[in-house]
Amino acid sequence: MTGKIKGISGPTVSVDLKGLKLYEKVCVGHSMLTGEVVRIEQDRAVIQTYEDTKGLSINEPVKATGTPLTVRLGPGLLSEMFDGLQRPLSRLREETGPFIKASKDICALDYQRRWRFHPLKDKGAEIKSGEIIGYVEEGRFRHFIMGSNNGRVSSIADGDFTLNEPLVELEGGSKIFGCYEWSVRIPRPCKKKFSPSEPLITGQRAMDFLFPLARGGTAVLPGGFGTGKTILEQSIAKFAGIDIVVYVGCGERGNEMAELIEDFATLTDPWTGKRLMERMILVVNTSNMPVAARESSIYTAVTMAEYYGDMGYHVLLLADSISRWAEALREISSSLEEMPGEEGYPTYLASRLSNFFERAGVVETLSGKTGSLSMILSVSPPGGDFTEPVTQACLRSAGASLMLDASLAHKRHFPAINWFQSYSLYEKAISRHFIARISKKWDELRQRCKEILQRESALKEIAGIVGMEGLQDSDRLLMHAAEKVRMEFLCQNAYTEDAFSPPEKTVLKIEEIVEFYDNVQRMLKEGMPLDEILKMQE
Ligand SMILES: Nc1ncnc2c1ncn2[C@@H]1O[C@H](COP(=O)(O)OP(=O)(O)OP(=O)(O)O)[C@@H](O)[C@H]1O
Ligand SMILES: [Mg+2]
Repeated sequence: MTGKIKGISGPTVSVDLKGLKLYEKVCVGHSMLTGEVVRIEQDRAVIQTYEDTKGLSINEPVKATGTPLTVRLGPGLLSEMFDGLQRPLSRLREETGPFIKASKDICALDYQRRWRFHPLKDKGAEIKSGEIIGYVEEGRFRHFIMGSNNGRVSSIADGDFTLNEPLVELEGGSKIFGCYEWSVRIPRPCKKKFSPSEPLITGQRAMDFLFPLARGGTAVLPGGFGTGKTILEQSIAKFAGIDIVVYVGCGERGNEMAELIEDFATLTDPWTGKRLMERMILVVNTSNMPVAARESSIYTAVTMAEYYGDMGYHVLLLADSISRWAEALREISSSLEEMPGEEGYPTYLASRLSNFFERAGVVETLSGKTGSLSMILSVSPPGGDFTEPVTQACLRSAGASLMLDASLAHKRHFPAINWFQSYSLYEKAISRHFIARISKKWDELRQRCKEILQRESALKEIAGIVGMEGLQDSDRLLMHAAEKVRMEFLCQNAYTEDAFSPPEKTVLKIEEIVEFYDNVQRMLKEGMPLDEILKMQE
């Protein structure tokens, strides 16, 4: 089915094609740019193009594909870097040079490569869609191959194969291959969803100890300009106690992404000692790339993440920043002349975001394994104003929110997580785990730590009036202990060895500070003056 371009407005194009379906993939213009149908009217349809529309003109052809926007799922995704349309950047560079040409259709997976297939089913076995039929070794992971249809196995491969060759033939003639396509807008099916109860260790003391995250949970990091969102996301990508990390650079600076790629190539995974990139997939849509592709990069990434979750792995999706996607939605919505909602964002902003958050979770997969998809997404509110619509919509949907504070960042307190504004709904469930596995005192110490910080805040006001000298020794001691909590415990420099703090180290560190506070308090009661005790401690 072919039609003609009748209008172009930035990334949106209207065409006179009839019979299109909503969210159908189309190829736009002579250069065959990838686009998706976002509105259908009686005699025309509107398409959002994921590639640069510069140079496109009226009456160029538009071709319907009859399929939705899909990603290819199969072995070979790990350690790769993709653009928003799942084109592998390394091969794109080989073919087109460092400046990506629009419309270059390069498959995400390498169809020449041979993989060794280990079958887990026998001839004659009855299999169901989603069931595991065998695996290949992808780096250090077993990449399980799942059946795409039901039936009885009439033959199954054993040995080397390429992704073009069928692995299984079913009675009746249908075939199962090592890879397949999946629509990015359809969540992967599962048997059951559970509420998150296992911790997602980030190696950040402020998070693991005060606002713990859960595998299968969602967290947002709202923070104004320069509050450390990118550094925090990257630290978590390096150190998170998880099987696979999918990192999306969405609409942020290209040089930061280049640094990340260079940095990650040399690092080892602190949990396994293997190469860090072996467990990563990067999706890159930097600020100089087409705006509409921010949407496709987010959906491409989440679909690949879900796919590995389906194999029974624990997967973490990191996106920096979700606000850039929301801005793209606003731009597209305004060129579609839709009725604007708050601050010009489309009225469906909140539902689009919450549907996206819903794709996280702990699942029992169709093959009976337990996998999870967790999300940590940064949000960049303009002017650091947390009341703006994107931050508010994210706060409503996320299970944990780590509010990054500009005043802490100015004082070089990093990560600049505000301990009064942040929260985690997983606190109770995860505490149980830490108490059982790390320290019986975990909860008690957390209460003590929060108490010290709260009392410090109250005392600061009094000290502001009477001065530090006007405070009693016991109050001055508290201020001293609180400073230790902030500077020695909550601060973590991302550029030193301290960047990663395992929970065992975290609990020892806070225990030391609380013990110090208790000991000095005891000495004060025995009548020793504070200054003398502190001098002795030095
Ligand atoms: N954990 C950390 N340890 C040491 N320095 C940090 C840390 N986090 C942030 N910084 C410092 O703060 C600067 C800004 O951090 P970052 O680029 O992550 O902020 P951002 O919130 O992503 O900014 P933007 O809004 O511009 O994207 C960094 O260049 C670094 O110097
Ligand atoms: Mg940033």
